[in-house]
Amino acid sequence: MHRVPKLSFPLRTAFILLVPLTIALLAACTPDNNQSTFGTAGPIAKDQADLFKFIFWIAAIVFILVEGAVIYIAIRFRRRSDTDKLPYQTHGNNRLEITWTILPVLILAVIAVPTLTDIWEQQNTVPEDLGEVLNVEAVGHQWWFEFRYPNHEVITSNELHIPVNRPVAFKLESQDVIHSFWVPKIAGKVDMVPLNDNYMWMIGDEVGEYYGQCAEFCGIAHAHMRFRVIVHEESDFQAWINGMHTAADPPIAGSPEASGKNLFAANCSSCHTNDSTTPGSYAREINSQQARWNGWVSDIENSGIVSAPNLTHFGTHNTIGAGLKDLTKESLEGWIIDPSSVKIGTRMQKHAAIYDTADGKANLTPAEVSDIAAYLLSLKPGTAPAGAVIETDGVDGAEIFAANCTSCHSTSDVTIVGPGLAGIGERAASRIDGMGSYEYLDQSLRAPSAYVVDGFPDVMPEWSYLGDDSIDALIDYLITLN
Ligand code: CUA
Repeated sequence: MHRVPKLSFPLRTAFILLVPLTIALLAACTPDNNQSTFGTAGPIAKDQADLFKFIFWIAAIVFILVEGAVIYIAIRFRRRSDTDKLPYQTHGNNRLEITWTILPVLILAVIAVPTLTDIWEQQNTVPEDLGEVLNVEAVGHQWWFEFRYPNHEVITSNELHIPVNRPVAFKLESQDVIHSFWVPKIAGKVDMVPLNDNYMWMIGDEVGEYYGQCAEFCGIAHAHMRFRVIVHEESDFQAWINGMHTAADPPIAGSPEASGKNLFAANCSSCHTNDSTTPGSYAREINSQQARWNGWVSDIENSGIVSAPNLTHFGTHNTIGAGLKDLTKESLEGWIIDPSSVKIGTRMQKHAAIYDTADGKANLTPAEVSDIAAYLLSLKPGTAPAGAVIETDGVDGAEIFAANCTSCHSTSDVTIVGPGLAGIGERAASRIDGMGSYEYLDQSLRAPSAYVVDGFPDVMPEWSYLGDDSIDALIDYLITLN
């Protein structure tokens, strides 16, 4: 009789190690885990989880029956001694073969019923009887998420706000490569494909904050391309929308925030818009984002601009780096100094001129970093009346420019949506016969369509509503740009 040899040492060690490893892996499935699909917070995710469990238990029963039969047969009919005779050899058994052909067909037919029902219900459009739908356009960028609310003209990044128990219909797009939109606890994943819009919908049925994750490999920072979904009571959601249309209060002159605002305008505002609260700013930001992309993609190595998250009311955010870290003054300063040390691959460091240093860290003093962080954290819906953008005491052209113009115009020669404005005073003087630079810039601000420079789109809004004092201050500032 042959002895079964004992498992050799390395193999036994491997088995012993497998046990804790398997337990650790399975622990990731606990419903409490932020990315577990078992603890659901919405009907779509719940239906998907229920379907998974239904198929899992059918598969488990099949597994137990088949493996049980294999083990039973192996033991019951094993060779007991060297004198055992070879049993009678046979080929085929019609009754058995028909049985194990029909049974799987029946099982698959049973599984198909809830599978097809779920696909039918969850595909594409929201069923009509579910009430008022919130429309959101989610755009994937390497490596962050942009969220647009076209009916509310609100635009934000990396943190999606939705009302509880209301269906949200998504149009999913990508600006660059294929990403995948996934909120594990609320809805399954759908790819975001460039040049091909996909659609999905979901409902969050519990107020709270949930994790989202890009679920399609999209480059070096794929695993760090996350977002948060904040499910609000309906009234809180409306308050959030209203807040996104309320400008932040201007910083007090001489404060760290005021210094940070100027540093932001000088170093960050070509890529990051942070003031999408005024009428028209929604369309402007979409144009700017497209222009930044065009600028970057036309010269990937040398471009000074790159698609970047909209930072309007950034001070209300919970996270930075596309859901990567909690937002605190410290984490924000760390990000400003050396973003790639937080999130490998981020394009900010490669393209923003401020990082063109020997060690790649921001060319800013610690005090300047602190001021920018203080300014960004101060960006919250303000108490000033709606539409007010400018400080009335002491009109400052540079501040008016920073608050209203930087999403489309740089102060250098870099084109965003409109031309870079370095040297505009000189150029403007010779543009229209008989019109000096001051009159020309005045016309450009009040009636921009009257003269559009070749090669630029006729998209600039009229700025007369800023008032005469502000227009004058703005022109004074523009003429100083070299
Ligand atoms: Cu975007 Cu992975």
